[in-house]
Amino acid sequence: MDDIEGLIVRNDPVVPGHFRVSVRLSKPMAPIRPGQFVMLKVPSSEVFLRRPFSVYDYRKGILSVLYKVTGKGTAALADARVRERVMVLGPLGNGFTILPRHEAIVVAGGIGIAGVSLLWSKLRGRKSFFWGCASDAEAGLVNDMTSCEPYISTMDGSLGCKGNVVELLAQHINMLASPALVFACGPEPMFAALRDLLKDKRIPCQVLLEERMACGLGVCFGCVRKTLDETEPYKRVCKEGPVFDLWQISL
Ligand SMILES: Cc1cc2nc3c(=O)[nH]c(=O)nc-3n(C[C@H](O)[C@H](O)[C@H](O)COP(=O)(O)OP(=O)(O)OC[C@H]3O[C@@H](n4cnc5c(N)ncnc54)[C@H](O)[C@@H]3O)c2cc1C
Ligand code: FES
Repeated sequence: MDDIEGLIVRNDPVVPGHFRVSVRLSKPMAPIRPGQFVMLKVPSSEVFLRRPFSVYDYRKGILSVLYKVTGKGTAALADARVRERVMVLGPLGNGFTILPRHEAIVVAGGIGIAGVSLLWSKLRGRKSFFWGCASDAEAGLVNDMTSCEPYISTMDGSLGCKGNVVELLAQHINMLASPALVFACGPEPMFAALRDLLKDKRIPCQVLLEERMACGLGVCFGCVRKTLDETEPYKRVCKEGPVFDLWQISL
């Protein structure tokens, strides 16, 4: 992990309210595991704390982050111009663990796709991708993923199945090979629904949690989550996570 200076080389809208920023780093980043994240210093004097973002892509010294504008920090990032300077701290946290001989089921809701894109590109063997979003206006978020023909659901039914992504997965769950392993990133209600769906078959599932963060380094304890670990129930999402076993977290 390192704090690296970078220059923005692209910062383009992908679909309304969502952008992809690419940063040329001044030196190579340490090897990145899918699911790891960076703390990005947004180039704005109004935004003091760094913001956490999953590594969407990293190649030839260029780091990309796919992000949704949700507040002050991401709005300032969307306003940043090419050649502006940013600081990138990372890679941070514990990423996904890929198990050989398992069929990989990747499940993402909305901008959760940013947290699993790198994972998708590293998975070998049998894999399938389930993605849910609000409407076909967001469909462009999935176009970037190579060799991916996702199962898609939209809440308004404008593309793919009507409903949420866990309802979509439920329609296919009996067709999955065994052993299967689910990787998920999305809003918390999606994790609760996944737990309900997977509990009978007790399918292993790793989830990427997005908690608010201040330091990203395990120092401030601002990101703790309760888990079912009896000896040490409180875990820092930035340090012990952001990827956790679905069956070990309190929802
Ligand atoms: C490990 C990790 C990886 C992430 N990866 C991505 C990513 O790849 N792309 C992306 O768009 N976002 C990602 N996020 C979420 C992103 O960090 C927040 O959206 C961002 O920090 C919000 O900053 P803001 O100043 O724009 O919003 P704020 O003004 O701080 O908050 C606006 C709204 O967003 C909510 N919010 C703030 N921080 C978070 C957070 N960390 N997680 C969830 N909700 C939050 C607030 O509760 C509030 O409702 C990730 C978060 C974590 C912890
Ligand atoms: S953000 Fe400070 S301990 Fe996790």
